[in-house]
Amino acid sequence: MSVLIDQQSTQHQPLPVRLARRIDRLQPSPIREILKVIDQPEMISFAGGLPSSDSFPQLSVEGFDHQQLQYGATEGDLALRKYIAEDLGRRSLHVSADQVLILSGSQQGIDLVAKLMVEQGTRVAVESPSYLAALQVFSLFGAEYLSYTPDTITDLQRRSPALTYAIPTFQNPTGHCYSAAQRSQLAQVCDANGSVLFEDDPYRELCFGDCNRQPVCSLLERTSWIYQSSFSKVLAPGLRLGYLVCSPDLYPTLSWLKQAADLHSNRLSQHIVLQQLLEPGAVQRLQRVNQRYKIKRDAFALSLQQYFSDIACWQVPDGGLFFWLTLSTDKKIDTRQLLQQALQHNVAFMPGEPFFPAGSQSASCFRLNFSHATPEQADRGLCVLSQLIREVI
Ligand SMILES: Cc1ncc(COP(=O)(O)O)c(C=O)c1O
Repeated sequence: MSVLIDQQSTQHQPLPVRLARRIDRLQPSPIREILKVIDQPEMISFAGGLPSSDSFPQLSVEGFDHQQLQYGATEGDLALRKYIAEDLGRRSLHVSADQVLILSGSQQGIDLVAKLMVEQGTRVAVESPSYLAALQVFSLFGAEYLSYTPDTITDLQRRSPALTYAIPTFQNPTGHCYSAAQRSQLAQVCDANGSVLFEDDPYRELCFGDCNRQPVCSLLERTSWIYQSSFSKVLAPGLRLGYLVCSPDLYPTLSWLKQAADLHSNRLSQHIVLQQLLEPGAVQRLQRVNQRYKIKRDAFALSLQQYFSDIACWQVPDGGLFFWLTLSTDKKIDTRQLLQQALQHNVAFMPGEPFFPAGSQSASCFRLNFSHATPEQADRGLCVLSQLIREVI
């Protein structure tokens, strides 16, 4: 009996914790929540931006110097930074290795840039729709959004955001690739209104069409800029490696923010990534990955045509990992509710609402990843999804 009383007396109510006020603005990422349920073997998932696991390279850790187990430079290992600078030069973005900051995944770049630029009330221009995990970070720091689409870039001219975030190449979620005219419009507008351009470019290598992929940052003349990309989609997301390059005025502060965040990125991952990039067969490997993705995209487009042609519209993407569907209904549909029904039928997709900066009203849009499921699974899943949608509309 006395033991029982002792136990009860140790079960205190926790004292209230005074969290930072910005935590009120923190939302869980819907995609990470969905990823928790899609691991079930019978689930057909169109939800994540997952590269196909058969695209992962065979990794071996050769030539890893024992000394690289030591703490490393915040900026990243020099050989990798030099490789990235040369590679970007071939894409018309001329930078030196001193402008390259290796990241622990390009998601870290979004976090660092938000810390650098965004506080409560900072005006941030974002595409509508935009990458939801970028919205999650900008919102945490208190961003006020100015939204635009590739067709309304010039509206930003008179609105002076402090930061303009764009994914011009195979955008997440729409898959849209900016035309040459849209690229130069975006550069001109940022130069004119003085907003810092933050170009996020993780999908540029997953290309199956003939499209302009010139970094918009390479077209800027005056304003400061940050350009980032990732090794997640072309090598493997588990390596957690990306990088940013930026105009020299922003580099020192961004590298101090990186110091404060994690000291430096994983050196084993940096070694593996450089080894992969220098492999004699690296270009051919990427070509094979893109051929496989193109086959999946084409099969997906055929299934969409079969099941959705009278209830939705979409563009076939020239690269990236996603189709973006807009339902052709008069009434707006909340696709988050649709997801709950789809999950009961073992189909997962990404509802459209969280991609919109304006908030959570019904969007009638949703994102479908085509790289993860096999064409047979995709066909089955799309058939189920279209039936559910027909019942709703
Ligand atoms: C537009 C965009 N930016 C950044 C990221 C983050 O990628 P990672 O942190 O894996 O490099 C993603 C991931 O899907 C993305 O779609």
